[in-house]
Amino acid sequence: MRIAILGTGYVGLVTGVGLANTGKKVICVDKDEEKLNKIKNDISPIYEPGLDELLVANKDRIEVTANTLEAIKVSDVIIIAVGTPFNGDEIDLTFIKQASKEIGKAISEIPDFKVVVVKSTVVPETTEKIVKPIVLEYSGKTEEEVGFAMNPEFLREGNAVEDFLNPDRIVLGVSSKKVELILREMYSGYPDSTILVTNPTTAETIKYTANSLLALTISYSNEIARICEKLSGVDSEQVFEGVLLDKRFSPIENGNRIKPQFSTYLRAGIGFGGSCFPKDVQAFHAFAKKNNVDSRLLGGLLEVNKTQLEHVFNLGLTNHPGNPKKITILGTAFKPNTDDIRESPGIKLAEIALKQNYEVTVHDYIALENTRSHFNDKVTYEADPMEAINDADLVYVTTIWNDYLNYTDDEYFSNMKKGAILIDTRSHFKSRENRPWRIRIGVGSY
Ligand SMILES: NC(=O)c1ccc[n+]([C@@H]2O[C@H](COP(=O)([O-])OP(=O)(O)OC[C@H]3O[C@@H](n4cnc5c(N)ncnc54)[C@H](O)[C@@H]3O)[C@@H](O)[C@H]2O)c1
Repeated sequence: MRIAILGTGYVGLVTGVGLANTGKKVICVDKDEEKLNKIKNDISPIYEPGLDELLVANKDRIEVTANTLEAIKVSDVIIIAVGTPFNGDEIDLTFIKQASKEIGKAISEIPDFKVVVVKSTVVPETTEKIVKPIVLEYSGKTEEEVGFAMNPEFLREGNAVEDFLNPDRIVLGVSSKKVELILREMYSGYPDSTILVTNPTTAETIKYTANSLLALTISYSNEIARICEKLSGVDSEQVFEGVLLDKRFSPIENGNRIKPQFSTYLRAGIGFGGSCFPKDVQAFHAFAKKNNVDSRLLGGLLEVNKTQLEHVFNLGLTNHPGNPKKITILGTAFKPNTDDIRESPGIKLAEIALKQNYEVTVHDYIALENTRSHFNDKVTYEADPMEAINDADLVYVTTIWNDYLNYTDDEYFSNMKKGAILIDTRSHFKSRENRPWRIRIGVGSY
């Protein structure tokens, strides 16, 4: 089986490498020649643990090209993994439509049955009402001659390779039994994962519902944390611990309690960022509105997320005894183990600070290069966290890089200026109690 993947970004590249790792021949297609050249030279254009190694190990089964037509012609399955940004009003399907046209044109002369799989996150009915009609129109083919599927991707950046190699679920939203069998063959290298077969629109809805639920939990936690902050002696961490002891969240089996991974979402923080949650919830909310559904929960969770940034920023300002001028952001990647800064809370916090004329210094372990492309000379860059904090009035720890825990409280304290305050915006530090020089969000009596 040969698979063409249109879009060699986070999802396309990891999918390509993951499928190649199970013996499938993969052609990664992108318009971005720089990306393709890096891959040709065995360098992953993105930072993901384990990706470089897997790329090299499967080199013989991975081709890369900018020639979309040729790649599609020789492939049995064509996966669409292009970006689907939010344009302010709704999901922007420009790249999806363009890819669909290219697929249609490429397969018009080819007699073989092809399957077109949408892996990009798209609002419900996109596969049926946008992709399918465009492909059929440009190819001149019938539904019997081309198969369609929607196969959402659930990988988490920073764990993308691990997630793809050990999927907790594979959702196949298919147009026919024939397509299901072909996609089961495509995923034959993952025999232990649960496969859920649905129609394409259900698959699209599953992806948005899953992301919205996680985002909702984050905003719920932050709203509760704000209440806790008003209560003397109340720590939201302990509140959530008490909630999670409910057997419905953490079942007790053979006397042992199973701690749900979900608990990491029920926690005070700076809010969600990244390339998925913000745009997906906005797109789902807009889609609901367009369909005359009052989706006030989706709207509310977005609002809480937006205001949480200001809230966290103000926590620093109101707790500082003097007149702070210099701000340091520790962590510009939207989460650890990635260099992705899209919608990153650390970046957004720096933007708020710059707008209010503070001097800003940033540190990150992996994302400094991307941060530099974003801010150019507007901020100061530091490769060493202790150097980054030593002249700041306010330090915000915004990414939970484990490496930030390599330094003791004393090291932080002694490297900071007298009177400076560190705001642990992610409840990251192991020592839970607040100190005069360090505050943690979600805790009362600052
Ligand atoms: N990043 C994630 O963690 C993640 C997880 C699950 C789902 N998704 C979804 O997957 C999709 C892709 O996300 P991403 O983060 O990989 O995006 P990305 O921006 O990293 O990559 C998209 C790539 O598509 C390329 N492209 C655009 N049009 C093309 C075309 N016609 N032919 C070939 N290449 C083309 C771009 O050059 C770019 O390299 C989005 O819909 C996203 O919501 C992303």
